[in-house]
Formats: sequence, C-alpha cells, structure tokens
Amino acid sequence: MMQLILSWVLLAILAIAPRVGNALPTVESSLAVRTPSLPLTVNVLHTFEFPSWCENLAVQANGRLLVSRLDTPEVIQVDPTGVLAPTTVASWNASEYMGCLGISETVAGVFYVITSAFVNDIFVKTSGVNSIWEINMNTFNVSSAGVVTSNATVSKLVDIESADFLNGMITLNAYHILVGDVYNGWVYKVNTITGRYYIAINDPLMKFGANATTNLGVNGLKIHSPYLYWTNTAVGSLNRILINAKAEPYGVSQVVTANVPKADDFIFKSDGTAFIAQNQEDELSVLLSGQSVAEVVAGNNISTTLAGVTAGKFGRLSTDANRLYLTTSGALGLPINGSVVVAGSVLYIDTTGF
Ligand SMILES: *[C@@H]1O[C@H](CO)[C@@H](O)[C@H](O)[C@H]1NC(C)=O
Ligand SMILES: *[C@@H]1O[C@H](CO)[C@@H](O)[C@H](O)[C@H]1NC(C)=O
Ligand SMILES: *[C@@H]1O[C@H](CO)[C@@H](O)[C@H](O)[C@H]1NC(C)=O
Ligand SMILES: *[C@@H]1O[C@H](CO)[C@@H](O)[C@H](O)[C@H]1NC(C)=O
Ligand SMILES: *[C@@H]1O[C@H](CO)[C@@H](O)[C@H](O)[C@H]1NC(C)=O
Ligand SMILES: *[C@@H]1O[C@H](CO)[C@@H](O)[C@H](O)[C@H]1NC(C)=O
Repeated sequence: MMQLILSWVLLAILAIAPRVGNALPTVESSLAVRTPSLPLTVNVLHTFEFPSWCENLAVQANGRLLVSRLDTPEVIQVDPTGVLAPTTVASWNASEYMGCLGISETVAGVFYVITSAFVNDIFVKTSGVNSIWEINMNTFNVSSAGVVTSNATVSKLVDIESADFLNGMITLNAYHILVGDVYNGWVYKVNTITGRYYIAINDPLMKFGANATTNLGVNGLKIHSPYLYWTNTAVGSLNRILINAKAEPYGVSQVVTANVPKADDFIFKSDGTAFIAQNQEDELSVLLSGQSVAEVVAGNNISTTLAGVTAGKFGRLSTDANRLYLTTSGALGLPINGSVVVAGSVLYIDTTGF
C-alpha cells in the first residue's frame, strides 16, 4: 500500500507543471442568474479509511451508489441515506489488478467495471492486463442490519490485452459499452454479451499530445446524442464528435471548452449543463450548454473541500435528482500545497438552480 501511495505521490510530483493560464474570459453573468451563491456547498456522505482513492461511481435504481476504488480493486455500495453501512460488493486479488475505474450500467441491475493492469509513474503498463467485469446486482441483497444475505454475481467479461490503462466507461446501449484507454488515447467498443471489442474511436483530441504535462489523454466519456463527449486530462479540455447508433464517429472532432485543467470525469445534467471534476486542481467546474468557457463552482487548489475530485453522478430518485454525488481521491494524485493528502470520500452538492 505504502509503495502504491509513494508511487502516486511521485507520479504527482512528476505531473506538477505550470497551470494552463485562464486566458479565456469568464462568463459569470450567465451562471449568476442560475445559482444563488458560489461556491456551492459540499456535503460529506462517507469518508473512507486513509489512504483511499475513490475513482468513479454509478447510481443504482434503488438510489444506492456503487463506488470504484483505484487504490485497491474493489467496488463498494454506499447508501446515501446513511442507513446502511458501506458494503463491499465485489473485490479482486490486489496482486492481479491495481484497482477499479470506470463503472456503468447497461440493462437493469447489470453493471460493468474496469479492473486495471499495473502502470508506472508515467502510466505505461508494467504488468497484468486490463479487464472488464460484470457485476450483476440483481442477485445482491442486504438486510436492514447491513448483513449481505445474497451476493452480487461477479464474472469476467473480457481481457483487453491491447489496452495500456483503461479509465472511462459509458453505456452505448443495452449490450455495448465504450471504454477509454487514457494513455493510448482511444476508445474501445465492447459487446457485453460476446466480449468482442475493437477500437471504435481514435481521435487526435483523445491524445495527451506533445510536451504534455501528464500522459493522460481521453478520460471521462459521456454520450449526449448525437455526440460522444470526452475530457482530455493533459490538455484540460472537453471535446466531442458526432457518432451514429453504432458509435461510428463522423465529421470532425471539436474542442467544447479548453479551460478545465486536469479534467477528470464529468457528467451532464438533463439540460446539458456539464459538471467537470478536476482531480489535481481539487475543483469542480460547470459548463453551461452552448457555452465555451467553464467556471469553477466548488473547491480550489489550496483546500481539501474537493480533495482530488474524480467523478460525479446525479441521483436517480425523485428525492435526489438534483444531487450530484462526487467521488474523491483525497488528493493522492497531487497533494494539496505539495503535501496535504486526506482520505478518499463520497460527497454531494445540491445543483438545484442549474
Ligand atoms: C493473488 O494472486 C497472486 C498472484 O497471481 C497469487 O499468488 C495469490 O495466491 C492470489 N491470492 C488469492 C487469495 O487468490
Ligand atoms: C432481500 O432480503 C429481505 C430480507 O432481508 C427480503 O425481505 C427481500 O424480499 C429480499 N429482496 C430480494 C430482492 O430478494
Ligand atoms: C458472499 O461472498 C463472500 C465472499 O466470497 C462470502 O464470504 C459470503 O459468505 C457470501 N455471502 C453469501 C450470503 O453467500
Ligand atoms: C515541444 O517541445 C519542443 C522542445 O521544447 C518544441 O520544439 C516543440 O515545438 C514543442 N511542441 C509542441 C507541440 O508544443
Ligand atoms: C495551503 O496553503 C495556503 C497558503 O499558505 C493556506 O492558506 C491553505 O490553508 C493551505 N491548504 C491546506 C489544505 O493546508
Ligand atoms: C493554485 O491555483 C492558482 C491559480 O488559480 C495558482 O496561481 C497557484 O499556483 C496554484 N497553487 C497550487 C499549490 O497549485
């Protein structure tokens, strides 16, 4: 564990580089009419043990979250009501997989998650293989006392031998997912019935580029029809390209916004507003639909409020549809002020008004 943390810290130090300046003008006026006050309040749902890196999350139809951990290969159920204690629903041998990353649901109750190979400080694979696993939550049950009475059914879908470091995942349709290789800068389409996969989108805006400050290109993936959107961490951008129903790209890819340094995963609200997690900036930015300049709405790089924020998902119940649930890495990727790291956590912000 210590070795892993040290290597994240080393990696972080290597990744320190001049920030992309805020060269573009801000559009405070458009946000000001939508929200009462910034920064938005950040609420803590659960803090994991230290150290811990919560990497991604999915929301189940029953409102409970599935949180993937990158510091250890585990997926943990977190109950936003706090009634049930967090429960590990799937775990893998930590000698075989470094951790878990993108997680997404296809048909009701059936989730897929990435288990990753081991990578070095510059994200080049050193051993192991990136795999996709199915977690069928339809067989999972937990008593009100928190006792697991029936396990999730966990099975390997496929090993993706050609992948270096899989990271983001999005559901294309009932039987296909898209999975991004953050180092190679391309996106696989994976058939969740047969396990067949191939590189479906391999776009220049998915590459980390020459002289990049970090070897992380395509990271978060989302479909907002007819476009596939993705963040590029090294470039600090949100990008898009037209895709058809089979995820075949057409036309020319575009930069949607370029002022989201160290962009990690992101999510759209129903109206098209994008909430972008900026892990190594410890910030969450918002990009209004149709705009090209994002604005920070919570966190900052000298505060632990959003320490290493990695991803966000909206609640699925009528009671929490405006809640944006967030995962954090505790700034293990880049310690705040060069030295401050905290435990990973699950947080939420109320986005009513956006
Ligand atoms: C974990 O994987 C290692 C390496 O493959 C193996 O030696 C070890 O027995 C495995 N542990 C368990 C509990 O399966
Ligand atoms: C889950 O377990 C509870 C008892 O702990 C039971 O009442 C309920 O029917 C079970 N649900 C499912 C879907 O099996
Ligand atoms: C669930 O799986 C765990 C780990 O394999 C096992 O220890 C436990 O007995 C299982 N629970 C049930 C209810 O089958
Ligand atoms: C990368 O750095 C080299 C050497 O400093 C420079 O010549 C080159 O123009 C840079 N490339 C880009 C794309 O910035
Ligand atoms: C980081 O440093 C600044 C300036 O010294 C200080 O105000 C801030 O509290 C520090 N942040 C943390 C998390 O220690
Ligand atoms: C935090 O961000 C500001 C710009 O907003 C930058 O000037 C400063 O160097 C950053 N500090 C750290 C510790 O990254």
